[in-house]
Amino acid sequence: MRRKLIAGNWKMYKTTAEAVALVEEIKKGLAGAPGDTLVAPPFTSLVAVVAAAKGSPVAVAAQNMHFEKEGAFTGEVSPAMLKDVGTTHVVLGHSERRQHFAETDEGVARKTKAALDAGLVPISCVGETLSEREAGKTMDVVKRQVDAILNALTPEEAARIVIAYEPVWAIGTGKVATPEQAQEVHAFVRLRIGAVHGRPVGEALRILYGGSVKPDNVKGLMALPDVDGALVGGASLKADSFLKLVHYDKQ
Ligand code: PGA
Repeated sequence: MRRKLIAGNWKMYKTTAEAVALVEEIKKGLAGAPGDTLVAPPFTSLVAVVAAAKGSPVAVAAQNMHFEKEGAFTGEVSPAMLKDVGTTHVVLGHSERRQHFAETDEGVARKTKAALDAGLVPISCVGETLSEREAGKTMDVVKRQVDAILNALTPEEAARIVIAYEPVWAIGTGKVATPEQAQEVHAFVRLRIGAVHGRPVGEALRILYGGSVKPDNVKGLMALPDVDGALVGGASLKADSFLKLVHYDKQ
């Protein structure tokens, strides 16, 4: 049985005071949540959010990191630095990083491996653009992205990652994938993991859906057999909407 994970990606929003206030409100509303809860604040508020979340079930992720252990990489943050401040997870290869910061399949694969080596749980993102979907290339693109990650890992390592399927055309657009579209790709990704690393790994690994997840569509998405949670942007920035997602079973 895979436990659901509801993850809030705060992107480039929130000062430290705002971030702490949000996590305090989230903590108050968690009782009875059916799955796991995670927030991914900007680097600048990681320390404060880790402190605020301490002793609660809220896990804290970074939104990116470098794959090298250390070095002359001005402006970058290493896996060990994230671990050092108490971060347990890291979002990698988000489409905004692929699109605006030239992240490649190979780079995302290296980061995924480096996160595992540092004892972090990577949440590695894949997903097709609108033009790729319209050209009928969704499965080819997702396979290429997923395979790059899987090929960098042993089966034991692969079993420790989380994958997020986020169709780029659904991110921040209000255009959520239909349940059929989401389930189709999630099942495909799970089969692919099974083909590369064995069926038990595919069955155990959590695959999150991301892209315009809101309180009014979350229940249907979470009911899909291969959707194991959500990676949420916009609706994670306010406690009331995020808590509705956390309590997806009651919507
Ligand atoms: P959205 O973002 O929920 O605002 O569509 C999702 C994401 O980018 O992770």
